Amino acid sequence: MGKVVVVGSINVDMVFTSDIRPKAGETVLGNTFSLIPGGKGANQAVAAAKLGADTYMIGCVGNDSNGEFSLENLQDMKVNTEGVKIVDNAPTGVANIVVADNDNSIIVISGANFEVNKDVINNNKKLILSADMVLLQLEIPMEVVEFVVEICAENKVKVLLNPAPAAVLKKSLIEKAAYITPNEHELKLIFDNQDTDSVLKSYPNKLIVTMGSKGVKYHDGNEIREIPSKKVEVVDTTGAGDTFCGALAAALVRGDSIEDAIIFANKAASFTVTKLGAQSGMPELAELL
Ligand code: RIB
Repeated sequence: MGKVVVVGSINVDMVFTSDIRPKAGETVLGNTFSLIPGGKGANQAVAAAKLGADTYMIGCVGNDSNGEFSLENLQDMKVNTEGVKIVDNAPTGVANIVVADNDNSIIVISGANFEVNKDVINNNKKLILSADMVLLQLEIPMEVVEFVVEICAENKVKVLLNPAPAAVLKKSLIEKAAYITPNEHELKLIFDNQDTDSVLKSYPNKLIVTMGSKGVKYHDGNEIREIPSKKVEVVDTTGAGDTFCGALAAALVRGDSIEDAIIFANKAASFTVTKLGAQSGMPELAELL
């Protein structure tokens, strides 16, 4: 069993479902409301753990009921939370998610996620260095993401960077990460609107572009490969990208080839979209196999 260490965000998702997405200045009556564990970091950790990886989370939550709820959930999902710090000066991160028209809109209030600093990383350095793969996203401060990538590069620990939410990345970050998993929108921002195929050719076996129902694209060193997505009944796409990243890490650390890992991760992501909430539909290993 390979070891995955996730350094990232932990949120509580406030999920509203509605037939209509409200426009600016409009009030609409929705259908349901749920409080669901989320955060890109926590979601990826849960996906990796459910799919068999020995998984550890490093991050911060507030000293509040949302923090307790998030920690209990991670522990229930067999994610080790010894690297999660409870801070007094900020509330646990929250996300407001509107699910309408088979798609979502999300506003994140970072709260304690922005308390993840270099001290938190240094206090967990041993854990980071013991990882077979470190997973990062962009819901904690960018300088901390860069710091972790630097430590990993110096110590030859592989990093899988999920550049979400979209942000411009330093060239050194792109060079030092072993795998980068943007969606099409994030890819355009990072690579200055360049054509997808030419960017893929420049980063063979590193850049893996997720395209939702259109599948996944990467360059295998010889040619561009397209892995199709399984057709499913979509309920909520929240967390599909997170499931993909957690599953990809779980497959790579157990020794799968990059092609097999992408096929596995893409199948896992297709399970997630069939249920409401980022984590509710994430498959267990046996279910997926
Ligand atoms: O990727 C989905 C996640 O983005 C949600 O769980 C929400 O918390 C935001 O971080």
